Amino acid sequence: MSVITIPQGMPQYADKPRFDVEKIRADFPILSRTVNGHPLVYLDSAATSQKPRQVVEAIADHYLNHNANVARSVHTLGTEATEAYEGARALVAGFIGARAPEEIVFTKNSTESINLVAHAFSPTAADPRFRLGPGDEVVISEMEHHSNLVPWQMVCERTGATLKWFGVTDQGRLDESDLDGLITERTKIVSLVHYSNVLGTINATARITKRVREVGALLMLDCSQTVPHLPFDVVDYDVDFVAFTGHKMLGPTGVGVLWGRSELLEAMPPFLGGGSMVETVTMPKTTFAPPPARFEAGTPPIAEAVGLGAAVRYLQDIGMEAIQWHEKELTAYALDALATVPGLNLVGPSVPVGRGGTLSFSLAAADGTPIHPHDVGQVLDSLGIQVRVGHHCARPTCVRFGVAALTRASFYLYTTTDEVDALVRGLDQVRKVFA
Ligand code: ALA
Repeated sequence: MSVITIPQGMPQYADKPRFDVEKIRADFPILSRTVNGHPLVYLDSAATSQKPRQVVEAIADHYLNHNANVARSVHTLGTEATEAYEGARALVAGFIGARAPEEIVFTKNSTESINLVAHAFSPTAADPRFRLGPGDEVVISEMEHHSNLVPWQMVCERTGATLKWFGVTDQGRLDESDLDGLITERTKIVSLVHYSNVLGTINATARITKRVREVGALLMLDCSQTVPHLPFDVVDYDVDFVAFTGHKMLGPTGVGVLWGRSELLEAMPPFLGGGSMVETVTMPKTTFAPPPARFEAGTPPIAEAVGLGAAVRYLQDIGMEAIQWHEKELTAYALDALATVPGLNLVGPSVPVGRGGTLSFSLAAADGTPIHPHDVGQVLDSLGIQVRVGHHCARPTCVRFGVAALTRASFYLYTTTDEVDALVRGLDQVRKVFA
């Protein structure tokens, strides 16, 4: 990749790896389209990322030239499809530092990955680490996406266990002030978001991991927003389970990932029953295949996994460190730029440290009247600017900050400072409309 000049006003991370954003953008045909007569400004990558030509072509090539079901046939196409599917598993494993491809379970999305782990907990689980009942506790946080909240509520209701959670500080950080009181010998699992889809906060996990190990609990991280945006290594983080999804990291929808430590996956019961997850089936009873097959019942998302593999290759070619620094610079630039917008109240860390390029805010008119995020989103859309509005599937986080909904701009490797400027101009326009 060629070296770019750092735009004026950007923080000078000059020694960091970088790439040519315009060259990257050329790989994403959608970024050249217009919306409502304006150039598209796509600021909703936290909801789903755009896809480079290379990913779309890999999926098309699979369907046009190699399509067959996997792990079921001896014919050539079946072998090619199986090799492509298992090749994608190996690519994903390498991308997050897994010790073996077998530690990667392909699911439908992060939500399914988290449900799969939650499902393993019961009062009668064979492995004591998954035995959960009255008196036991599950710990989450107030900054969870519903996908890492509702499954744990359900499991606690089912087992009689108690759900506890970390609060969030006014600055949008995890409140660790009562860490030892929250994570105790009663805790069976701590399941935390690593990078908040609302606040942009990237949680430091070292103290939490240490405490989790002290009490002998398990640790799961929801890395849906992490794995697409920064280098992430499961061994460095010393976790037990990690969930993420393909469509937020340049891959297609319909494929997610559960990474789990091998010996834990081996101790877990199946989630869904059906074909391909079995060892032996008789009329009264079935024995189950080892992981990951045990957790991949039915025909899996084959073409989607192939597309995810292509996305991993694309990200690796650019380098996750370079992507991280690009977004760090952009976030610093955007925090400064948004601070100039009158009536804008950022929710989440206001400094580009321990946070990523996901910026949520409320906006008020000149007389202080709040402008509803749906109105903000509609005016911005009329200018070609795509942002997400609402509670972002994290209602308790919004409630914590006293709002029902927020406007959110989220960045990725293809986002430019010009697009941040367009957002700022768009917000001025919103305030004019609601003056
Ligand atoms: N989790 C996605 C978001 O935050 C859908 O927008």
